Amino acid sequence: MSNSSITQPDTTILVVGSTGKTGKRVVAQLEKRGLPVRHGSRSAERPFDWDNPQTWAAALTGVDMVYLTYYPDLAVPGSVDAVRTFTDLAKRAGVRRLVLLSGRNEAEAEKAERVVIASGLEWTIVRCAFFAQNFDEGAWLDEVRAGTVSLPVDQVQEPFVDADDIADVAVAALTDDRHVGQLYELTGPRLLSFREAVAEIGAAAGRDIAFVSMPIEEYRAMLAEYGLPHDFIWLLNHLFTEVLGSKAQLADGVQRALGRKPKDFTDYAREAAATGGWAPSL
Ligand SMILES: NC(=O)c1ccc[n+]([C@@H]2O[C@H](COP(=O)([O-])OP(=O)(O)OC[C@H]3O[C@@H](n4cnc5c(N)ncnc54)[C@H](OP(=O)(O)O)[C@@H]3O)[C@@H](O)[C@H]2O)c1
Repeated sequence: MSNSSITQPDTTILVVGSTGKTGKRVVAQLEKRGLPVRHGSRSAERPFDWDNPQTWAAALTGVDMVYLTYYPDLAVPGSVDAVRTFTDLAKRAGVRRLVLLSGRNEAEAEKAERVVIASGLEWTIVRCAFFAQNFDEGAWLDEVRAGTVSLPVDQVQEPFVDADDIADVAVAALTDDRHVGQLYELTGPRLLSFREAVAEIGAAAGRDIAFVSMPIEEYRAMLAEYGLPHDFIWLLNHLFTEVLGSKAQLADGVQRALGRKPKDFTDYAREAAATGGWAPSL
Protein backbone atom coordinates (compact mmCIF):
# COMPACT_ATOMS: atom_id res chain seq x y z
CA MET A 1 0.00 0.00 0.00
CA SER A 2 2.75 2.46 0.90
CA ASN A 3 4.36 2.11 -2.54
CA SER A 4 1.12 2.70 -4.43
CA SER A 5 0.91 5.56 -6.87
CA ILE A 6 -2.35 7.41 -7.41
CA THR A 7 -3.76 8.45 -10.79
CA GLN A 8 -3.09 12.10 -11.70
CA PRO A 9 -6.12 14.45 -11.76
CA ASP A 10 -5.74 15.19 -15.49
CA THR A 11 -6.06 11.50 -16.47
CA THR A 12 -8.95 11.01 -18.91
CA ILE A 13 -10.81 7.73 -18.44
CA LEU A 14 -13.12 6.23 -21.05
CA VAL A 15 -15.92 4.17 -19.46
CA VAL A 16 -17.35 1.82 -22.09
CA GLY A 17 -20.89 0.94 -21.05
CA SER A 18 -21.18 4.20 -19.12
CA THR A 19 -24.94 3.83 -18.64
CA GLY A 20 -24.77 0.13 -17.69
CA LYS A 21 -24.99 -1.56 -14.30
CA THR A 22 -21.32 -1.22 -13.42
CA GLY A 23 -20.35 1.56 -15.85
CA LYS A 24 -22.72 4.16 -14.40
CA ARG A 25 -21.36 3.46 -10.90
CA VAL A 26 -17.78 3.77 -12.13
CA VAL A 27 -18.61 7.07 -13.87
CA ALA A 28 -20.26 8.44 -10.70
CA GLN A 29 -17.25 7.58 -8.53
CA LEU A 30 -14.67 8.93 -10.98
CA GLU A 31 -16.58 12.18 -11.49
CA LYS A 32 -16.93 12.56 -7.72
CA ARG A 33 -13.15 12.39 -7.53
CA GLY A 34 -12.95 15.12 -10.18
CA LEU A 35 -11.33 12.89 -12.82
CA PRO A 36 -12.17 13.65 -16.47
CA VAL A 37 -14.50 10.90 -17.75
CA ARG A 38 -15.33 10.10 -21.36
CA HIS A 39 -18.75 8.44 -21.50
CA GLY A 40 -18.86 5.42 -23.82
CA SER A 41 -22.27 4.29 -25.04
CA ARG A 42 -24.43 4.66 -28.12
CA SER A 43 -26.12 7.65 -26.48
CA ALA A 44 -22.90 9.43 -25.43
CA GLU A 45 -21.80 12.79 -26.82
CA ARG A 46 -19.27 10.89 -28.95
CA PRO A 47 -21.33 7.73 -29.57
CA PHE A 48 -19.55 4.43 -29.02
CA ASP A 49 -21.11 1.39 -30.66
CA TRP A 50 -19.64 -2.12 -30.49
CA ASP A 51 -21.50 -2.85 -33.74
CA ASN A 52 -19.82 0.08 -35.52
CA PRO A 53 -16.00 0.00 -35.14
CA GLN A 54 -15.80 3.36 -36.92
CA THR A 55 -17.02 4.99 -33.70
CA TRP A 56 -14.19 3.57 -31.57
CA ALA A 57 -11.30 5.88 -32.57
CA ALA A 58 -13.16 9.10 -31.73
CA ALA A 59 -14.13 7.72 -28.33
CA LEU A 60 -10.46 6.88 -27.65
CA THR A 61 -8.95 10.23 -28.66
CA GLY A 62 -7.13 11.83 -25.72
CA VAL A 63 -7.91 8.91 -23.41
CA ASP A 64 -5.36 7.60 -20.87
CA MET A 65 -7.28 4.72 -19.31
CA VAL A 66 -10.29 2.57 -20.18
CA TYR A 67 -12.88 0.66 -18.15
CA LEU A 68 -14.03 -1.87 -20.74
CA THR A 69 -17.38 -3.64 -20.59
CA TYR A 70 -18.40 -5.58 -23.67
CA TYR A 71 -22.04 -5.75 -24.73
CA PRO A 72 -24.09 -7.92 -24.74
CA ASP A 73 -21.70 -10.45 -23.19
CA LEU A 74 -18.15 -11.70 -23.66
CA ALA A 75 -19.72 -15.15 -24.26
CA VAL A 76 -21.17 -14.19 -27.65
CA PRO A 77 -19.36 -15.05 -30.90
CA GLY A 78 -17.18 -12.17 -32.11
CA SER A 79 -16.51 -10.70 -28.67
CA VAL A 80 -12.86 -11.77 -28.51
CA ASP A 81 -12.07 -10.28 -31.95
CA ALA A 82 -13.84 -7.07 -30.97
CA VAL A 83 -11.85 -6.81 -27.72
CA ARG A 84 -8.61 -7.51 -29.65
CA THR A 85 -9.33 -4.84 -32.27
CA PHE A 86 -10.40 -2.35 -29.62
CA THR A 87 -7.34 -3.03 -27.45
CA ASP A 88 -4.94 -2.60 -30.41
CA LEU A 89 -6.64 0.66 -31.30
CA ALA A 90 -6.50 1.83 -27.70
CA LYS A 91 -2.77 1.16 -27.53
CA ARG A 92 -2.11 3.03 -30.76
CA ALA A 93 -4.24 5.92 -29.44
CA GLY A 94 -1.92 6.24 -26.42
CA VAL A 95 -4.04 4.50 -23.78
CA ARG A 96 -1.90 3.36 -20.86
CA ARG A 97 -4.22 1.24 -18.71
CA LEU A 98 -7.22 -0.98 -19.37
CA VAL A 99 -9.52 -2.56 -16.78
CA LEU A 100 -11.64 -5.37 -18.24
CA LEU A 101 -14.98 -6.50 -16.83
CA SER A 102 -15.15 -10.25 -17.35
CA GLY A 103 -17.31 -13.22 -16.37
CA ARG A 104 -16.57 -16.42 -14.42
CA ASN A 105 -16.62 -19.95 -15.84
CA GLU A 106 -16.73 -18.64 -19.39
CA ALA A 107 -14.26 -19.79 -22.06
CA GLU A 108 -14.73 -16.82 -24.42
CA ALA A 109 -14.41 -14.36 -21.53
CA GLU A 110 -11.10 -15.98 -20.58
CA LYS A 111 -9.88 -15.62 -24.18
CA ALA A 112 -10.75 -11.92 -24.04
CA GLU A 113 -8.86 -11.65 -20.74
CA ARG A 114 -5.78 -13.20 -22.38
CA VAL A 115 -5.96 -10.64 -25.20
CA VAL A 116 -5.90 -7.81 -22.66
CA ILE A 117 -3.16 -9.43 -20.56
CA ALA A 118 -0.95 -9.84 -23.66
CA SER A 119 -1.68 -6.33 -24.97
CA GLY A 120 1.32 -4.58 -23.43
CA LEU A 121 -1.07 -2.18 -21.64
CA GLU A 122 -1.25 -1.95 -17.87
CA TRP A 123 -4.17 -4.28 -17.11
CA THR A 124 -6.52 -5.41 -14.38
CA ILE A 125 -9.13 -8.14 -14.89
CA VAL A 126 -12.35 -7.91 -12.87
CA ARG A 127 -13.91 -11.37 -13.33
CA CYS A 128 -17.38 -11.46 -11.87
CA ALA A 129 -20.13 -13.81 -10.73
CA PHE A 130 -23.79 -13.17 -11.66
CA PHE A 131 -24.70 -9.59 -10.73
CA ALA A 132 -27.31 -9.08 -7.99
CA GLN A 133 -28.48 -6.06 -9.99
CA ASN A 134 -29.80 -8.33 -12.76
CA PHE A 135 -32.90 -8.50 -10.54
CA ASP A 136 -33.56 -4.76 -10.27
CA GLU A 137 -31.68 -3.14 -13.16
CA GLY A 138 -31.50 -5.98 -15.65
CA ALA A 139 -33.21 -8.83 -17.41
CA TRP A 140 -35.18 -10.13 -14.41
CA LEU A 141 -36.74 -6.85 -13.25
CA ASP A 142 -39.98 -7.33 -15.18
CA GLU A 143 -40.58 -10.82 -13.78
CA VAL A 144 -39.90 -9.67 -10.21
CA ARG A 145 -42.37 -6.83 -10.64
CA ALA A 146 -44.93 -9.18 -12.17
CA GLY A 147 -44.60 -11.48 -9.14
CA THR A 148 -43.23 -14.68 -10.70
CA VAL A 149 -39.64 -15.46 -11.65
CA SER A 150 -39.31 -18.52 -13.90
CA LEU A 151 -35.86 -19.99 -14.46
CA PRO A 152 -34.38 -23.26 -15.76
CA VAL A 153 -32.57 -23.92 -12.47
CA ASP A 154 -33.50 -25.50 -9.16
CA GLN A 155 -30.60 -26.58 -6.92
CA VAL A 156 -28.02 -24.41 -8.72
CA GLN A 157 -26.31 -21.98 -6.38
CA GLU A 158 -24.54 -18.73 -7.26
CA PRO A 159 -22.49 -16.25 -5.20
CA PHE A 160 -24.33 -13.14 -6.50
CA VAL A 161 -22.03 -10.11 -6.53
CA ASP A 162 -23.14 -6.52 -6.01
CA ALA A 163 -22.44 -3.97 -8.76
CA ASP A 164 -21.31 -1.48 -6.10
CA ASP A 165 -18.49 -3.85 -5.17
CA ILE A 166 -17.56 -4.32 -8.83
CA ALA A 167 -17.45 -0.54 -9.34
CA ASP A 168 -15.35 -0.08 -6.19
CA VAL A 169 -12.79 -2.58 -7.51
CA ALA A 170 -12.79 -1.09 -11.02
CA VAL A 171 -12.27 2.43 -9.65
CA ALA A 172 -9.49 1.21 -7.39
CA ALA A 173 -7.82 -0.38 -10.42
CA LEU A 174 -8.13 2.85 -12.40
CA THR A 175 -6.81 5.07 -9.66
CA ASP A 176 -4.15 3.08 -7.82
CA ASP A 177 -1.12 1.42 -9.45
CA ARG A 178 -0.98 -1.49 -7.04
CA HIS A 179 -3.85 -3.21 -8.88
CA VAL A 180 -1.94 -3.34 -12.19
CA GLY A 181 -1.40 -6.94 -13.31
CA GLN A 182 -4.04 -8.36 -10.95
CA LEU A 183 -6.89 -10.71 -11.83
CA TYR A 184 -9.63 -10.33 -9.25
CA GLU A 185 -12.46 -12.86 -9.05
CA LEU A 186 -15.43 -11.10 -7.50
CA THR A 187 -18.30 -12.87 -5.76
CA GLY A 188 -20.64 -12.07 -2.94
CA PRO A 189 -19.96 -13.53 0.53
CA ARG A 190 -22.26 -16.59 0.23
CA LEU A 191 -23.84 -19.02 -2.20
CA LEU A 192 -27.60 -18.80 -2.71
CA SER A 193 -29.94 -20.72 -4.96
CA PHE A 194 -32.04 -18.60 -7.31
CA ARG A 195 -35.08 -19.71 -5.30
CA GLU A 196 -33.47 -18.33 -2.12
CA ALA A 197 -32.48 -15.11 -3.89
CA VAL A 198 -36.07 -14.58 -5.08
CA ALA A 199 -37.37 -15.31 -1.56
CA GLU A 200 -34.99 -12.65 -0.17
CA ILE A 201 -36.23 -10.18 -2.76
CA GLY A 202 -39.85 -10.93 -1.83
CA ALA A 203 -39.10 -10.49 1.87
CA ALA A 204 -37.31 -7.18 1.26
CA ALA A 205 -40.06 -5.92 -1.05
CA GLY A 206 -42.78 -7.04 1.37
CA ARG A 207 -44.65 -9.13 -1.20
CA ASP A 208 -45.00 -12.70 -2.41
CA ILE A 209 -42.82 -13.39 -5.41
CA ALA A 210 -43.10 -16.93 -6.73
CA PHE A 211 -40.17 -18.92 -8.08
CA VAL A 212 -40.90 -21.44 -10.81
CA SER A 213 -38.21 -23.91 -11.88
CA MET A 214 -38.69 -25.34 -15.35
CA PRO A 215 -36.78 -27.59 -17.77
CA ILE A 216 -34.45 -25.68 -20.09
CA GLU A 217 -36.44 -26.69 -23.21
CA GLU A 218 -39.62 -25.26 -21.69
CA TYR A 219 -37.73 -22.11 -20.69
CA ARG A 220 -36.42 -21.59 -24.23
CA ALA A 221 -39.93 -22.10 -25.63
CA MET A 222 -41.31 -19.55 -23.14
CA LEU A 223 -38.72 -16.95 -24.16
CA ALA A 224 -39.51 -17.57 -27.84
CA GLU A 225 -43.20 -17.11 -27.07
CA TYR A 226 -42.38 -13.76 -25.42
CA GLY A 227 -40.81 -12.82 -28.77
CA LEU A 228 -37.25 -12.47 -27.45
CA PRO A 229 -34.56 -12.38 -30.16
CA HIS A 230 -32.82 -15.63 -31.03
CA ASP A 231 -29.40 -14.27 -29.92
CA PHE A 232 -30.73 -13.40 -26.47
CA ILE A 233 -32.31 -16.83 -26.07
CA TRP A 234 -28.96 -18.38 -27.08
CA LEU A 235 -27.20 -16.27 -24.43
CA LEU A 236 -29.60 -17.24 -21.63
CA ASN A 237 -29.43 -20.90 -22.66
CA HIS A 238 -25.62 -20.68 -22.54
CA LEU A 239 -25.73 -18.97 -19.15
CA PHE A 240 -27.98 -21.56 -17.54
CA THR A 241 -26.44 -24.65 -19.14
CA GLU A 242 -22.71 -23.79 -19.25
CA VAL A 243 -21.83 -20.88 -16.96
CA LEU A 244 -23.87 -21.35 -13.80
CA GLY A 245 -23.95 -24.52 -11.78
CA SER A 246 -21.65 -27.01 -10.20
CA LYS A 247 -18.53 -24.84 -10.47
CA ALA A 248 -20.04 -22.11 -8.30
CA GLN A 249 -17.77 -21.23 -5.42
CA LEU A 250 -16.80 -18.20 -3.41
CA ALA A 251 -13.79 -16.09 -4.39
CA ASP A 252 -11.84 -13.47 -2.48
CA GLY A 253 -11.44 -10.70 -5.08
CA VAL A 254 -13.30 -7.99 -3.14
CA GLN A 255 -11.32 -8.71 0.01
CA ARG A 256 -8.03 -8.85 -1.90
CA ALA A 257 -8.61 -5.65 -3.89
CA LEU A 258 -10.34 -3.54 -1.25
CA GLY A 259 -9.41 -5.09 2.10
CA ARG A 260 -13.06 -5.51 3.09
CA LYS A 261 -15.87 -8.05 2.77
CA PRO A 262 -18.24 -8.04 -0.21
CA LYS A 263 -21.83 -6.84 0.22
CA ASP A 264 -24.32 -9.52 1.24
CA PHE A 265 -27.38 -10.27 -0.93
CA THR A 266 -29.71 -9.37 1.97
CA ASP A 267 -28.24 -5.86 2.11
CA TYR A 268 -28.51 -5.58 -1.67
CA ALA A 269 -32.18 -6.64 -1.56
CA ARG A 270 -33.01 -4.21 1.26
CA GLU A 271 -31.41 -1.28 -0.59
CA ALA A 272 -33.00 -2.19 -3.94
CA ALA A 273 -36.44 -2.60 -2.34
CA ALA A 274 -36.12 0.83 -0.72
CA THR A 275 -36.01 2.46 -4.18
CA GLY A 276 -39.53 1.15 -4.87
CA GLY A 277 -38.41 -0.53 -8.11
CA TRP A 278 -39.90 -3.90 -7.11
CA ALA A 279 -43.42 -2.57 -6.61
CA PRO A 280 -45.98 -4.69 -8.52
CA SER A 281 -46.38 -3.91 -12.21
CA LEU A 282 -49.92 -2.86 -13.13
N1 LIG B 1 -24.85 -9.25 -15.85
C1 LIG B 1 -24.08 -10.17 -15.24
O1 LIG B 1 -24.52 -10.89 -14.33
C2 LIG B 1 -22.64 -10.33 -15.66
C3 LIG B 1 -21.81 -11.19 -14.91
C4 LIG B 1 -20.45 -11.28 -15.27
C5 LIG B 1 -19.97 -10.55 -16.35
N2 LIG B 1 -20.81 -9.73 -17.06
C6 LIG B 1 -20.28 -8.96 -18.19
O2 LIG B 1 -20.69 -7.61 -18.05
C7 LIG B 1 -20.83 -7.01 -19.33
C8 LIG B 1 -22.03 -6.12 -19.29
O3 LIG B 1 -23.15 -6.84 -18.97
P1 LIG B 1 -24.48 -6.29 -18.31
O4 LIG B 1 -25.46 -7.36 -18.60
O5 LIG B 1 -24.30 -5.86 -16.91
O6 LIG B 1 -24.85 -5.03 -19.15
P2 LIG B 1 -24.82 -3.47 -18.81
O7 LIG B 1 -23.43 -3.00 -18.47
O8 LIG B 1 -25.90 -3.11 -17.89
O9 LIG B 1 -25.10 -3.05 -20.32
C9 LIG B 1 -25.63 -1.95 -20.80
C10 LIG B 1 -24.53 -0.96 -21.31
O10 LIG B 1 -24.05 -1.37 -22.58
C11 LIG B 1 -24.29 -0.29 -23.49
N3 LIG B 1 -24.55 -0.83 -24.82
C12 LIG B 1 -25.61 -1.59 -25.23
N4 LIG B 1 -25.45 -1.92 -26.53
C13 LIG B 1 -24.28 -1.37 -26.93
C14 LIG B 1 -23.58 -1.34 -28.15
N5 LIG B 1 -24.03 -1.94 -29.26
N6 LIG B 1 -22.41 -0.68 -28.21
C15 LIG B 1 -21.92 -0.04 -27.12
N7 LIG B 1 -22.52 -0.04 -25.94
C16 LIG B 1 -23.70 -0.68 -25.84
C17 LIG B 1 -25.45 0.47 -22.90
O11 LIG B 1 -25.46 1.80 -23.31
P3 LIG B 1 -26.38 2.38 -24.50
O12 LIG B 1 -27.66 1.58 -24.51
O13 LIG B 1 -26.54 3.81 -24.13
O14 LIG B 1 -25.56 2.19 -25.73
C18 LIG B 1 -25.11 0.39 -21.42
O15 LIG B 1 -24.15 1.36 -21.08
C19 LIG B 1 -20.84 -8.14 -20.35
O16 LIG B 1 -19.63 -8.12 -21.08
C20 LIG B 1 -20.88 -9.42 -19.52
O17 LIG B 1 -20.06 -10.43 -20.08
C21 LIG B 1 -22.13 -9.60 -16.73
